[in-house]
Amino acid sequence: MKDLFGQALLEYQNGNHTEDIITSTSISGEDTLPLPYLFRDFKDMPSLEKKALKLAEGSVLDVGCGTGSHSLYLQEKGLKVKAIDISKGAIDVAKQRGVMNAEEKNILDETESFDTILLLMNGTGIFQELSQVSKYLSHLKSLLKDDGQILIDSSDIKYMYEDEDGGLWVDTNSSYYGELDYFLSYKSEKEVPMKWLYLDFETLKLACETVGLKCERVCEGEHFDYLARLV
Ligand SMILES: C[S@@+](CC[C@H](N)C(=O)[O-])C[C@H]1O[C@@H](n2cnc3c(N)ncnc32)[C@H](O)[C@@H]1O
Repeated sequence: MKDLFGQALLEYQNGNHTEDIITSTSISGEDTLPLPYLFRDFKDMPSLEKKALKLAEGSVLDVGCGTGSHSLYLQEKGLKVKAIDISKGAIDVAKQRGVMNAEEKNILDETESFDTILLLMNGTGIFQELSQVSKYLSHLKSLLKDDGQILIDSSDIKYMYEDEDGGLWVDTNSSYYGELDYFLSYKSEKEVPMKWLYLDFETLKLACETVGLKCERVCEGEHFDYLARLV
């Protein structure tokens, strides 16, 4: 990974915002990811994220924290927060913004235990593909204290396969429709392609059952997105 994402965040943090990140996926064309969005404060967060932050309690792990927006809010509320991300640039920015406990780390290498684990802004993306969901969920479960909870959001992206007449063109012989290849570029440089997973609620619930987690839908967003609580 070249960490162009982290480079973009650092440049924004240091007042050098000249371009946004450009993304595309295996099923969609180019889109702009505005850098300011990654620095959002509570009032600019989608309702699902606000709800997750209200439900967070005790010691919190913010997985894939990015610039630390969620961690900062919880830290200011007095919660004990640890923020991790595989992007060195993101962690540098989170620290500069004031996140006290931020570490460059893959979730699979985390070993401490927590009352609340947060995975937000399509939290299932980190699992990359359906075949890895059980591995990630089992690991997350192993990090939970007694009565702990995992708060995770995702979307059912079936709508992206709808044609103009409302018919679906999902190829049922191919892999799960939420498995996407994700491409990112910044200032004309291309990041190494990655896999990014969107999970519909029923598939997440089934996967949770196989690893002994109970999964409830806390609320729905405006566009096929939802927040789930796993206990
Ligand atoms: C879509 S961004 C979300 C950032 C932040 N949560 C937010 O809402 O603004 C996903 C983040 O997850 C991080 N990430 C991806 N895989 C990860 C892993 N295995 N462990 C920890 N962080 C990971 C990425 O570097 C990126 O910062």
